[in-house]
Amino acid sequence: MKIKKAVFPVAGLGTRFLPATKALPKEMLPVVDKPLIQYAVEEALNAGIEQIIFVTGRGKTALEDHFDKSFELENILLSKNKDHDFKAITSLVPETGTIIYTRQNEPLGLGHAIWCARDVVGDEPFAVLLADDLVKSDRPVLSQMIQRFCRLRASMVAVMEVAPEETDKYGIISGKDIEDHVIQLDALVEKPKPAEAPSNLAIIGRYILTPEIFSILGEKKKGAGNEIQITDAMSILLQSQPIFGYRFEGRRFDCGNKAGFQMANVAFAMDRPEIKDKLLPFLKEIIG
Ligand code: G1P
Repeated sequence: MKIKKAVFPVAGLGTRFLPATKALPKEMLPVVDKPLIQYAVEEALNAGIEQIIFVTGRGKTALEDHFDKSFELENILLSKNKDHDFKAITSLVPETGTIIYTRQNEPLGLGHAIWCARDVVGDEPFAVLLADDLVKSDRPVLSQMIQRFCRLRASMVAVMEVAPEETDKYGIISGKDIEDHVIQLDALVEKPKPAEAPSNLAIIGRYILTPEIFSILGEKKKGAGNEIQITDAMSILLQSQPIFGYRFEGRRFDCGNKAGFQMANVAFAMDRPEIKDKLLPFLKEIIG
């Protein structure tokens, strides 16, 4: 039951970042000097994932180019002895043949995007990573989860506590703690109003799913926001299989919104001594 495949839904329009995302996929927005999607792909590869599956859409070719060789740029960097930059652009390219692209041709929701990968995933458990959720941690979240999955052998979602008034921005779970960091779920609800939320434990964009999810998604039932939701499909899956919530270690940045994205940039920049030297005095200055 090794997790070998990871699905990256990257077909979203990124309207919250317009006009920046008019011609640029939102997953290509950089945190310091690396696009969001690269953080997510590196996390997956670090966790032992062997096959990357991008569910893309129109206008996302920059993503494909980013993970491809760029002969012209490589030659220029080599001829100018820019070894560091050369390494930065060549080391990010996974071995050819390990990335597969499939398309979601209508924006019908996250559950639908995942369903678009059904034939590539096949009949095995797989991971899903949402690049918008960037987590700064000693150990990548997916590695933390896969370690638990090896023993628990069931679907799992990363969870964290959010402010009770924010439940309508997330999938919300409830359940009971069964071991350190792990909750056995008894309910999942997509974006409930605070008064209706079963808890304030929110799903963050890291999932391990068993393949039975695909037949449920294939029914194409619409839920919150009139979209096909992965949370709803998992709620049906829960009737026949256990599902676990994993309280991950690390700090999550919601890079799907502008404030979270800026916070991520500051946090990741402060880890780089050459940037911190200039950034810290500046931050102190503007804070006053
Ligand atoms: C999606 C999921 C939601 C989850 C969230 C995590 O929502 O539908 O359950 O909590 O990602 O970021 P979205 O942010 O796409 O609206």
